Amino acid sequence: MKIGIGNDHSALDLKKVVVEHLQSEGYEVVDYGTYTKESCNYPEFGEKVARAIVAGEVDLGVLICGTGVGISLAANKVKGIRAAVCSEPYTAQMVRRHNNAQIIAFGARVVGDEMAKMIVDSFLNAEFEGGGRHQKRVDMIMDIERREQSC
Ligand code: RB5
Repeated sequence: MKIGIGNDHSALDLKKVVVEHLQSEGYEVVDYGTYTKESCNYPEFGEKVARAIVAGEVDLGVLICGTGVGISLAANKVKGIRAAVCSEPYTAQMVRRHNNAQIIAFGARVVGDEMAKMIVDSFLNAEFEGGGRHQKRVDMIMDIERREQSC
């Protein structure tokens, strides 16, 4: 499985930890930046990873900024994307199982290295339960997006 990762300047160190962890588990990781600690704007990297998912370049994404919020908000503006901020493993698992999120986001100023590893593992090891009520609810979310675009 191919994972896209993106971050801002606040999350460079944690990004490196997560990339190494994912590679050690056998995932192919595509790093969409940022690559330095120079101050940058998180929407750029949220958008890059989201567009890579929509284009089929990568299967799922990981986004990290200070809180995880700004970068996930940006990703969610890309049509078809469901990015979820999670600071612990239970929610990280459930956003795959019930919400079919393609992107997990978290904050480098919120979670430590070990928690970040548990969060990405929980997300990547879970599967969308599909069918029935969960698919219906995800479809309803995506329908809001469709209706919004036709306004
Ligand atoms: C950058 O200082 C910070 O605002 C950003 O990393 C993030 O927390 C925004 O949501």
